[in-house]
Amino acid sequence: MGLNEQQNVPSQRKIIVFIVLAFIPIALFRLCFNNPFSSIKDTSLQDSAANVVITSFSSSSQEEESQESFDHIQDEPLCDYTQGNWVRDEIGPLYNGSTCGTIKDGQNCFRHGRPDSGYLYWKWKPNECDIPRFDSNRFLDLMRDKHLAFIGDSMARNQLESLLCLLSTVSSPDLVYRNGEDNKFRRWRFESHNVTVSVYWSPFLVAGLEKSGNLDHNVLHIDRVDERWGNHLERFDTVVVSVGHWFLHPAVYYESGSVLGCHSCETSNCTEVGFYDVFRKAIRTTLRAVAGSGREVILTTFSPSHFEGRPWDSLGACNMTKPYEGKVLEGLDLDMRKIEIEEYTAAAAEVRLEVLDVTAMSVLRPDGHPGPYMYADPFKNGVPERIPNDCLHWCLPGPVDTWNEIMIEMLRRWKV
Ligand SMILES: *[C@@H]1O[C@H](CO)[C@@H](O)[C@H](O)[C@H]1NC(C)=O
Ligand SMILES: *[C@@H]1O[C@H](CO)[C@@H](O)[C@H](O)[C@H]1NC(C)=O
Ligand SMILES: *[C@@H]1O[C@H](CO)[C@@H](O)[C@H](O)[C@H]1NC(C)=O
Ligand SMILES: *[C@@H]1O[C@H](CO)[C@@H](O)[C@H](O)[C@H]1NC(C)=O
Repeated sequence: MGLNEQQNVPSQRKIIVFIVLAFIPIALFRLCFNNPFSSIKDTSLQDSAANVVITSFSSSSQEEESQESFDHIQDEPLCDYTQGNWVRDEIGPLYNGSTCGTIKDGQNCFRHGRPDSGYLYWKWKPNECDIPRFDSNRFLDLMRDKHLAFIGDSMARNQLESLLCLLSTVSSPDLVYRNGEDNKFRRWRFESHNVTVSVYWSPFLVAGLEKSGNLDHNVLHIDRVDERWGNHLERFDTVVVSVGHWFLHPAVYYESGSVLGCHSCETSNCTEVGFYDVFRKAIRTTLRAVAGSGREVILTTFSPSHFEGRPWDSLGACNMTKPYEGKVLEGLDLDMRKIEIEEYTAAAAEVRLEVLDVTAMSVLRPDGHPGPYMYADPFKNGVPERIPNDCLHWCLPGPVDTWNEIMIEMLRRWKV
């Protein structure tokens, strides 16, 4: 299906914001909490925004050969993995909804009865290079004796849970810590490699309060990081940061202890300042704090949802079974990503920082969301008129596995 690119962007943005606002209370609160024709050759290109090397890998190549090709590309120029297409991949995912025990219920689309499986058989093919299939042993070797922390909202958790499933194909994670409603804070150990992986719930990254029973808006202190992870920075070697959708909620913002303004402030008596600048400052504050502590940082860019103007509880809200071709980023997705890329570019000189730029590849995957399969067997009693849909998170296995395939290349570059 082609996309209508003539749409009025501002009004579409309002709709998206409205949809996300309508959906988040249910979705987030309840859920949360090679070219086949070529033989092996290294293909990599320079890209100023994306400092990553991805080597070519053909599906017919042997693992040893592809690893060999890794080893001589360390100093080669970089590939822009963000430009490409989803191409059919007959091999399919490394894991499935029955082999991985840590898939969040709402994202276990297979177990919840999603009937189509075509969405599992796509791989991201950058125009200029190829992404090797995820190699769990390689990942664990790269992270040996290290601690990788995911910090952010439910998209950070979605990426973490994909990684756990990918890794559990070779080594099973031991859950050594859990705390917080809905497992918001958890830590696993891979004793085989002395690797620690953890997740910290922090949907704004900066200090603040999430809206709850008697607070109808969020409160953010945009000049200091959330202590829940900030106090643990020295424990981490590498941090993956992923946020975005929570910034669309009504909120009051503080800077240096004074009210800066608010967003969607119906009840509070302060100036509407929107959320884009606040989002920017939260990212900046976070990158500075992590840079100051000398940790490695991977900033995962905004993950697009696919409500596309439809109510979150409408039948067929995101029932596509194939990727889009040639959809361009626009509206909220475009603006949120742009802010992240700008802040990454400004901070990158001072710190080991990479941007995991997933927005454009992910916007092409309307077929990758749970939709009504956020709940088990949604159509067991027939087809209702209204049905809750998750068109925000990603099914596991699903497109988010690709994010981790790209991430491993970043870790590999830091290792050398
Ligand atoms: C999941 O993967 C396992 C091991 O590869 C396989 O035996 C099983 O049939 C798969 N299950 C489904 C439902 O695809
Ligand atoms: C595991 O890694 C930590 C560093 O993260 C190190 O201090 C410790 O000695 C390692 N343990 C083993 C058994 O190698
Ligand atoms: C709201 O802001 C106006 C203008 O700054 C001020 O005069 C008024 O007292 C404020 N009201 C409340 C309830 O704070
Ligand atoms: C998606 O939902 C719409 C509206 O219910 C329906 O008309 C369409 O046939 C559905 N498409 C698929 C692939 O199920």
